[in-house]
Amino acid sequence: MKGTDIQLAAEHLLRGELVAIPTETVYGLAANALDEQAVARIYEVKQRPRHNPLIIHLADVEQIARYTTELPSIARKLIHHFAPGPLTLLLPRNSSIPDIVTAGSPLVAVRIPAHPMTLELLRRTDIPLAAPSANPFGYISPTTAGHVDKMLGDKIAYILDGGPCDAGIESTIIGFPDCVPTIYREGAIPKDHIEALIGPVAVFEGKKIHAPGMSAVHYSPNTPLLLCDDVDQAIRDHDHFRIGVITYCNYATGVTADNQWILCKDNDWEAAAHNLYAALHEMDERNYELIIAKTFPENGLGRALNDRLRRAAMKGIRNDPATN
Ligand code: TXA
Ligand code: MG
Repeated sequence: MKGTDIQLAAEHLLRGELVAIPTETVYGLAANALDEQAVARIYEVKQRPRHNPLIIHLADVEQIARYTTELPSIARKLIHHFAPGPLTLLLPRNSSIPDIVTAGSPLVAVRIPAHPMTLELLRRTDIPLAAPSANPFGYISPTTAGHVDKMLGDKIAYILDGGPCDAGIESTIIGFPDCVPTIYREGAIPKDHIEALIGPVAVFEGKKIHAPGMSAVHYSPNTPLLLCDDVDQAIRDHDHFRIGVITYCNYATGVTADNQWILCKDNDWEAAAHNLYAALHEMDERNYELIIAKTFPENGLGRALNDRLRRAAMKGIRNDPATN
C-alpha cells in the first residue's frame, strides 16, 4: 500500500515491519536499525548478500552522536555544510548498532536525508532507520513511489509517498581511513564541491567489495545497455537491433524522437541526475533489444552519472544473466 500517512509509516516501523521511505536521492527500504530481525527482512526482500552493509538514516547530529564513538572535525564540518543532504559518512559505531547493519564492520554509514516527510518520521519514531535503496539487488534504484510499488509493493508493509526524488542518484559516501577524507562512492554531491570545502579528497579504488554500490554489475536494466561517446555511430553499428536512446541536450540521428529520452538541456547535469533512473526504468519496460546511452563529461556530477551508467552497462550487449 502506498500513501502519505507518516503516523502509519511510524507504527509499521516500530512494529518491526518494512516501509519504503522517500529521500532526496532515491527511495529507501527502511527498517528499525536496532531490530535485528527487521533488518534481516531487508536483506531477504532485496535478495541482497549479508556482507553488504546498510546506511542508517538519522534526524540530526545529536542522533549521530548517539550511535557513534567519535566525530572527526572534518566530518563535523561536512555535516555542518551538507546535512541534511546527500552525504553519507563512515564513522566508528558503538555497540548499540547490531552487526547485521554493518556486516560486522566497526564503521557504520550514517546520513541525514533532506526530505521533510522522512525527517518527520525519524523524529517521531526516534529510531535509526537502516535503509538501502528500495530495489531488488542489482536492479535500478527507485526515484518515485511508483517505481518501488512496481518492484517491491507486494513484499512490504507501506510505501510512504514523498513524490519524485529531487537529486535522483545516491548519496556521496565519505570515510576517513588514516584521517584522509576518502570518497567511497561518487554521488549527488560532486567531488569538487567537497574539495572546495575541505581541500583534496582521495577516491577509494580498492577491489574489496563491501556493498552493492561497489559491485561491478549494478543499477542494471534487464535490457542490455551500451555506453558510448558517439551515439550516432553506435546506432549505425547496431542498426539490426530495436534501439532506445538515452542522451542529453540534442537528439541523436538514426532513431525516431519517440524512442529517445533527453535527460537534460543546456548541460544541466542536476536535471540529468534527477531524470536518469526514471529514464532507465521506463526504457527497460519498452521492449528494446538495446539501450544506447551517451557518456557524460567526466567532471562535476558527470562523474557519478558515468559511474552509474558504467555499472548499468556491465552486463554487455548479449544480455548475459546478471551475476548478482
Ligand atoms: O542515497 C543513498 O545513499 C540511498 C538512500 C536510500 O539513502 N541509499 C543507498 O543505499 O544507496 P545502498 O544500500 O543502496 O548503498 C549502500 C552503500 C554501499 O554501496 C556501501 O558502499 C555503503 O553504502 N556502506 C554502507 N555501510 C557501510 C559500511 N559500514 N562500510 C562501508 N560502506 C558502507
Ligand atoms: Mg543501492
